[in-house]
Amino acid sequence: MQPTLASAPAAPATADFLPLLGTDHLELYVGNAKQAAHFYKSAFGFQLVAYAGPETGRRDRASYVLQQDKIRLVLTTALRADHEIAEHVRRHGDGVKVLALWVDDAYASYEKTMARGARSYQEPLTLTDEFGEVRTAGIYTYGETVHLFVERRNYRGAFMPGYVAQTAAYAPLPVGLRYVDHCVGNVGWNRMNEVVAWYEQVMGFRNILSFDDKQITTEYSALMSKVMSNGNGYVKFPINEPAEGKKKSQIEEYLTFYEGEGVQHIAVATDDIIATVRELQARGVEFLQTPDAYYDNLRAHVGDIDEDVEALRSLRIMADRDEEGYLLQIFTKPVEDRPTLFFEIIQRKGAKSFGAGNFKALFESLEREQDRRGNL
Ligand code: FE2
Repeated sequence: MQPTLASAPAAPATADFLPLLGTDHLELYVGNAKQAAHFYKSAFGFQLVAYAGPETGRRDRASYVLQQDKIRLVLTTALRADHEIAEHVRRHGDGVKVLALWVDDAYASYEKTMARGARSYQEPLTLTDEFGEVRTAGIYTYGETVHLFVERRNYRGAFMPGYVAQTAAYAPLPVGLRYVDHCVGNVGWNRMNEVVAWYEQVMGFRNILSFDDKQITTEYSALMSKVMSNGNGYVKFPINEPAEGKKKSQIEEYLTFYEGEGVQHIAVATDDIIATVRELQARGVEFLQTPDAYYDNLRAHVGDIDEDVEALRSLRIMADRDEEGYLLQIFTKPVEDRPTLFFEIIQRKGAKSFGAGNFKALFESLEREQDRRGNL
């Protein structure tokens, strides 16, 4: 299955009006941040680095900041029912609220995107404490999800003003997760192209890959996907939309249970996927199970790879090749009871694509899970 190159890959002639340095953090709104923090520490190997809550003078909510190499997760819960965070959790369950982008100038990022049609979430704000200042500003993207621009070049503290540095006595070792590779959004029927146009017009992103419903289809269901990338390629947001099939698409299942559009998966990179996944499994992280037959054909599918196919088979890791190299990937089951957010673990060995050759095997695995939930 060959993905379509949607636009010229050449470097843009004009300067990037929204230079992004990478993903700053991902903030999840959850029902119980203390317990969620324990899960991401013990199961995924994140380390507690900062905290904000009643003990630090924040009366309405509690947040735990967890880090593993360049990946920062913020887990936030409301401390009373009458609160926008409690309402978000009531409606969506636990999920990603903020995809925060690291910038050199948060005020300019806000002003430029607002001038290009963004909807404001938070006006520019400068927060200060004894470690310096952090500037933030936010705009809405799909659903109730937001992009927060974070400027921290004049800050030396643990996270940002309002948070205190904190470590935990209970700190299981990291599992080798290094950085956020991409974050995927699920949007409603006929919405993908609107969202793609929004990323192009408002954020200056480019559509680097497209998959139609003929390419992403199984016997039962289908979806369409377009990958959006910022100018330097540090930030990539694939956008999925359901497509008509014989049965209910996995994207529809997500939209039903999330009660709207939102982040479907967060892909995190490792330099040694076999060691990382072995450790994650030992700690109880549940993964989709690729059928055994997939491994019988793997050499023919990807050619020579450094890894032992039997090791990949035993861990259910998939592999795919493009013109530039290959990649290894595996997907967790949803990390909450609603079939919504899940994680992808990815190791890139030259490949810059997203594993299109695995879509069919992957979606068949997803459909088996969907069927077990009675939602196919
Ligand atoms: Fe992905």
